[in-house]
Amino acid sequence: MNTNTEKSERIRIFDTTLRDGEQSPGAAMTLEQKLEVAELLDAMGVDIIEAGFPISSNGDFESVAEISKLVKNSVVCGLARAGFKDIDRAGEAIRPAKRGRIHTFISTSPVHMKHKLQMGPNAVLDAVGASVVRARNFTDDVQWSAEDATRTEPDFLCRCVELAIRSGAATINIPDTVGYTTPQEYVDLIRMLRERVPGGDTVVFSTHCHNDLGLAVANSLAGVIGGARQIECTINGMGERAGNAALEEIVMALKVRRDAMPFHTGIDTRMLARASKLVSNVTGFPVQYNKAIVGKNAFAHESGIHQDGMLKNVETYEIMRPEDVGVKETSLVLGKLSGRHAFRDKLQSMGYELSNEAIQDAFKRFKDLADKKKHLFDEDIMALVDDEILRDHDGIVVKGLKVETGVGVEPSAELVLAVGDEERRTRTTGDGPVDAIFKAIRELYPHAAALQLFQVHAVTAGTDAQATVSVRLEENGRTVTGRAADTDTLVAAANAYVNALNKLLVKRDKQVPEALTVAR
Ligand code: KIV
Ligand code: ZN
Repeated sequence: MNTNTEKSERIRIFDTTLRDGEQSPGAAMTLEQKLEVAELLDAMGVDIIEAGFPISSNGDFESVAEISKLVKNSVVCGLARAGFKDIDRAGEAIRPAKRGRIHTFISTSPVHMKHKLQMGPNAVLDAVGASVVRARNFTDDVQWSAEDATRTEPDFLCRCVELAIRSGAATINIPDTVGYTTPQEYVDLIRMLRERVPGGDTVVFSTHCHNDLGLAVANSLAGVIGGARQIECTINGMGERAGNAALEEIVMALKVRRDAMPFHTGIDTRMLARASKLVSNVTGFPVQYNKAIVGKNAFAHESGIHQDGMLKNVETYEIMRPEDVGVKETSLVLGKLSGRHAFRDKLQSMGYELSNEAIQDAFKRFKDLADKKKHLFDEDIMALVDDEILRDHDGIVVKGLKVETGVGVEPSAELVLAVGDEERRTRTTGDGPVDAIFKAIRELYPHAAALQLFQVHAVTAGTDAQATVSVRLEENGRTVTGRAADTDTLVAAANAYVNALNKLLVKRDKQVPEALTVAR
């Protein structure tokens, strides 16, 4: 694999998981989840994070503003249609960012202009110039997009792009909004725009490809061949309909095939698996098993012939090293006999940077898990460490849980909670074991928060798989999501609920101990 970056050109990665990705039906994320994703994208080396569409809701405005405050290195971008209200709202939302971008767009294809906008070409041209000039009042970093560019009449597209450049746009995005183009067509389109439009050589051209024909990644790479130097993409390929180009596939294609495509990105690829996992967890969208790069089977070798080849030389059936994307090839590397050193090494290779104390705590829990579970997969360790990070400041802790359930038995839970220094216990019945557990928590720690979501994922396969449970609570408009993993789904459910409660307390009063004393 060629890793020399000297002779290759840098491609900017523009991640739109939090905007176009969130437009996948059913993928809505809470503010807290978006902040978690943004923090990881920033740490991973994403150049631009499209954090939301501020005019679309107060929630989106808040997300863009909060992400702007949080992000350290990436440019934070807000989307806006061509109207001034949209642009002003986006400008306001990105104000706290160290580096903020406004991304303004308007449709340019005949079908969109006629049926969607009900505007003629001249009116669209006027809007292009006016929107970019308006956006420049807020930031020098303005990106303009021609929605449905690949179905736009080429001469008209050239006129729009020229006007956007003259009005002050520094990035010109050429979306394949409906996933219609083909690689060769897209190479030619971007090349034509760069060569024909006055000023085309002074701006960055960007790709934005949807996956309706399964060509989003191929088309994005083709765009780069044609001269684009920014790629818009999403983690796991999330997005409208069949989704957007998948970030992890693009980044790894450029890394593995630098011999064929002399380009590189600034992404720390060892964090790809973790980012995929996080986005899948917070959206509830599972990653398909055979998904390139981050699917569960992407580095699994089942057949005897393949295993035999792999044992002789890994290059027989692997074109990239699993650790380069944050996955260890062997699923059984760590077990109950593994030492602290190997565990620390493993965390580092997965892209985690934890304090000695946090590693110590995670190691203890890892040993407990290794006693209960035969095979430890990377996902188990990720779930365990992520859970450890969430547990950091817990004021309420599940100390004991005994559940009775079955046919002809009224489900009941005997629960012991440590609330600050005090130990509280109760026994409750419910409509099912989970209901009984949640009732017991509410009895021991009364609160008004409403349960909005209860979701269980099996992290790995097998009946001894770890379950990750997510619990979302809402109180006075504040929403928090608690998560916990355990081989026992009911234990994970209790811990996830308590984890959400702890987060709520921290949010409520900033200091857990005081919150604990007033609630009783
Ligand atoms: O697909 C698309 O055209 C878009 C634009 C808003 C850039 O998402
Ligand atoms: Zn899109």
